[in-house]
Amino acid sequence: MTQATDGFEPSKTIERNIGLELVRVTEAAALNSARYMGYGDKIAVDDAAVQAMRGALEGVDMDGIVVIGEGEKDEAPMLYIGERVGNGAMPELDVAVDPVDGTTLLSLGLPGAIAVVATSERGTMYQAPPGVYYMQKIAVGPAARGVIDINAPVAENLRRVAQARACAVSDIVVTVLDRERHADLKRDIRAAGARIKLIRDGDVMAAIEAAMEDYPGVDVYMGIGGAPEAVLAASALKCLGGEMQTKVWPRTPAERAQLTSAGIDLERVFMLDDLVSGQNVSFAATGITTGDMLRGVEFVGGGARTNSVMMRSRSGTVRYVTAHHRWAQKFIPVSEG
Ligand code: FBP
Repeated sequence: MTQATDGFEPSKTIERNIGLELVRVTEAAALNSARYMGYGDKIAVDDAAVQAMRGALEGVDMDGIVVIGEGEKDEAPMLYIGERVGNGAMPELDVAVDPVDGTTLLSLGLPGAIAVVATSERGTMYQAPPGVYYMQKIAVGPAARGVIDINAPVAENLRRVAQARACAVSDIVVTVLDRERHADLKRDIRAAGARIKLIRDGDVMAAIEAAMEDYPGVDVYMGIGGAPEAVLAASALKCLGGEMQTKVWPRTPAERAQLTSAGIDLERVFMLDDLVSGQNVSFAATGITTGDMLRGVEFVGGGARTNSVMMRSRSGTVRYVTAHHRWAQKFIPVSEG
């Protein structure tokens, strides 16, 4: 017998799962961009991923609009915000893409670069207003859902997470981006008695790892990262039943003044549903360089192997997909713009 959880009614029929198509999209981006691993060229890795992702999206049965993309139309020839993607068939969806989360990682051949796509019903993904680049974030898994508060002191959040997980604060590991702006955060985490996993880049996967019950390495993601990455991570956390809270974070006093005069409420707390309010969210990511959760692209004789994760909020199913690609029979559609 199936049971409804968290207000979600399980479907009585086998529904289409667009996530299976989205995996092919992130695989294409990963396969094409992995060729440039370690060349030291961030533009080359991004271009290769964007072109393949754009090409692969053309084959997806959807009428998609890019909500989180490569930037405004005048600065991004492909996957720009507002671009229509998919083959125009139903359903109408918002599409969030990050062809490479971790362009520096990939260009230097460092671990943890991934290709990411998420979809949700049209009009349900948060579009940051112009000038909003960063967000303060806190993310946890289902066990600690409902106990975090982005406005509470770090020590209080860690105490509550430890209590919810029935462990000591000293058992807790918090992932933090290795940035100067996090000096106080790191000090507070250490003072609270928790431990830290510092990462160089890639905070979409950092939030996912914190929320995955079958990934025991970390418990919380905290810190300031990109606003687009917040929506992508929120899409995954919605599928995982985790929780994430964010606030717009201005980098400088001048930026603070600009955002405030543009009417942006810097005290507003964005809950998961404010970032992605859809009830049918799908998420897919493929490893490009090997990270803690996903292996990267491995070129083998005559082909390549990829590792991906895909999830869907309506069912809560998480799938890991290892794919073996054979060049002789493989076509990676590359969009020229
Ligand atoms: P890119 O792949 O666009 O370089 O993003 C990598 C990343 O680490 C994100 O995961 C994160 O949200 C953001 O950069 C943090 O920004 P910054 O590097 O400016 O601190």
